[in-house]
Amino acid sequence: MRHAQLRALAKVNLDLRVLHKRADGYHEIRTVFQTISLADRIEVSFTPSRKTSIVLTGSDIPDNLIVRAAQAVFDAVKATGVVEFRLDKRIPMGAGLGGGSSDAAAVLLALPVLAGKRIDAGTLARLGAALGSDVPFFLYGGTALGIGRGTELYPLPDAPPSHGLVVAPGIHVSTPEAYRDLNRLTSMAADGDTGKFEVLVWGMDEDSPGSGWTAGCANDFESAVFGRHPLLRKIRDRLRHEGAKPALMSGSGSSLFGLWASRERRADAMVELAGAFGSQRVQLHKIELVNRRRYRALWWKQLGKHITGETWPPQSRYAQK
Ligand code: C5P
Repeated sequence: MRHAQLRALAKVNLDLRVLHKRADGYHEIRTVFQTISLADRIEVSFTPSRKTSIVLTGSDIPDNLIVRAAQAVFDAVKATGVVEFRLDKRIPMGAGLGGGSSDAAAVLLALPVLAGKRIDAGTLARLGAALGSDVPFFLYGGTALGIGRGTELYPLPDAPPSHGLVVAPGIHVSTPEAYRDLNRLTSMAADGDTGKFEVLVWGMDEDSPGSGWTAGCANDFESAVFGRHPLLRKIRDRLRHEGAKPALMSGSGSSLFGLWASRERRADAMVELAGAFGSQRVQLHKIELVNRRRYRALWWKQLGKHITGETWPPQSRYAQK
């Protein structure tokens, strides 16, 4: 039996613009994805067998993406076996933090390695996009530009180091519903406004000191989702009031996040936020941004003895040449 313990990181969207609805029913977006230190824990064990069995414990999420991702891997690499996952869910669900997507991507990265099969980046990206629009990002991590459905990804320079808070208000937002509200409330022009987004992305570059890029950060879902859930606007405004730059909703919500340049400022803000909103439902999580170098290092470490060298995507040492 081969065994690994995985951390599947969450994401926030440092910026998210929705341009228009496409002929395939999805929306054309421009976004800046960022991996953060908040993570689910997944224990996985694989035993070679001629019969396939996929078992998930520790979570009663119906139609879990972990199981679908495992089946997709077995089909793609023509492998069979008994695989058992134990999921310790720590990323709030329906919160725009990509928890389910990250779990799925973790399976795409780990299972071929444990099953002793080679898999290339293109195949992984295809499998990821079939599972969900946010899945492919977690095959790369760090700071990345997402366009199209969000599945077409390009590396960006690391976001400047900062210390963050994620506030998860315990509200489950449905992504399709958020897109529907957005269509109802706004007239999305076919060509959208990519100018402001472009300025923001260039401003994130280290060579643009003092660009104040965070002032331009936006999430087009905010007005639509805040309309249904006024508490979210209150939390976002409070994050701003405590000096967070940026202070935004992540994805289609419901979580809000803020970033500060110093740990001390973040600590002060956490006390204030906990005083104002803390309850059993509203969770506050301290987070750090995880850049691509650290994301890869985490993966090499957690797949440890099962991989050969430090390549990306990680490759199995059990694979036949
Ligand atoms: O790809 P995923 O299954 O995560 O998407 C969930 C739903 O969100 C889609 O069925 C679609 O309604 C909506 N969506 C969209 N445009 C995107 C991503 C998602 O309309 N770029």
